Amino acid sequence: MHAWLCETLEGADALQWKELPTPQPGPGEVRIAVKAASLNFPDLLIVQGRYQVKPPLPFVPGAEYAGIVEAVGAGVTQLAVGDAVAAVGATGGFATHAIADAARLMPLPPGFAIEDGAAFAFTYGTSHHALMDRGRLKAGETVLVLGAAGGVGTAALQIAKAAGARVIAAASSDEKCALCLSLGADAAINYSREDLREALKAPTGGKGPDIVYDPVGGALAEPAFRAIAWRGRYLVVGFAGGAIPALPWNLALLKGAAVVGVFWGDFARREPQAHAAGLAELARWYGQGWLRPVIDQRLPMAELKSAYARMGSRQVRGKLLLVNA
Ligand SMILES: NC(=O)c1ccc[n+]([C@@H]2O[C@H](COP(=O)([O-])OP(=O)(O)OC[C@H]3O[C@@H](n4cnc5c(N)ncnc54)[C@H](OP(=O)(O)O)[C@@H]3O)[C@@H](O)[C@H]2O)c1
Repeated sequence: MHAWLCETLEGADALQWKELPTPQPGPGEVRIAVKAASLNFPDLLIVQGRYQVKPPLPFVPGAEYAGIVEAVGAGVTQLAVGDAVAAVGATGGFATHAIADAARLMPLPPGFAIEDGAAFAFTYGTSHHALMDRGRLKAGETVLVLGAAGGVGTAALQIAKAAGARVIAAASSDEKCALCLSLGADAAINYSREDLREALKAPTGGKGPDIVYDPVGGALAEPAFRAIAWRGRYLVVGFAGGAIPALPWNLALLKGAAVVGVFWGDFARREPQAHAAGLAELARWYGQGWLRPVIDQRLPMAELKSAYARMGSRQVRGKLLLVNA
């Protein structure tokens, strides 16, 4: 097998494409022939030692992938050779083969495209947990999605629409805003040239969004929080912009609003049944055609470094897919 190996925490440029012995699955594990993997922002952080999960070196990055079960270890009864599965973990996907815990895999039902499976659970799982579970989104409410053209952003937009919400997409360019409108957003704001708080007044009739979904952080957080509606929920999803914002707490008091943390990885570990129920709902919505991963580019696995560069320079719209021939 071949894999991208992270041997130092010097970032994506230091990754090496190496030939490694093809591993045998242990008890409870399966070996997957990886068909496709997708890049998520935490993949950028983990190869720099800046992610909350710090695997021992060397490791193979790639938190999300899908493929075909090629060998099963002792005690695996729920999967068989030939099954199509999707995997989400911290590592292992940027390779031709991967070993995974069978109990944590998502079997892909008939009709679920493998490449969609490689770009689904991480972003849709995060955004479903954020909006439906932590945010208690109700039909008819208004959701502001920041970084709306990115991976978790496009997933949040589609999920909020599927749940019957009105969506205001906010992003840093007119091209990104146009993509969001084509995905069903009701309004779009380019926060590179518009004042976010002012721009939110017209599409919300001055009331503000009921939910703010924020995977960006930095300077956008305070104007977004100042605009939030009475009893609003501000979902803290990530800090792709780099800076972790600090808010004056009186703003929460004045709006009767809540700042709500979202940590999908720990939710999946701590609440496996709720997590599985969320993924099942997402698979149903996919089957109904309400959700479709937005694929920015489909690159050969060998071009992983250019995928990393594209995400690091803020160019990705939706998800970047890495495919094995
Ligand atoms: N809490 C959780 O459980 C959880 C789970 C998954 C991901 N996350 C976090 O969510 C965030 C987004 O992840 P993602 O995979 O969706 O990433 P992504 O596809 O790269 O999207 C991130 C968006 O952030 C905006 N951005 C602003 N400044 C940026 C910068 N300096 N570099 C890159 N992007 C910048 C970009 O939109 P504009 O150009 O439009 O501003 C970009 O589309 C990350 O912080 C990630 O760690 C959290």
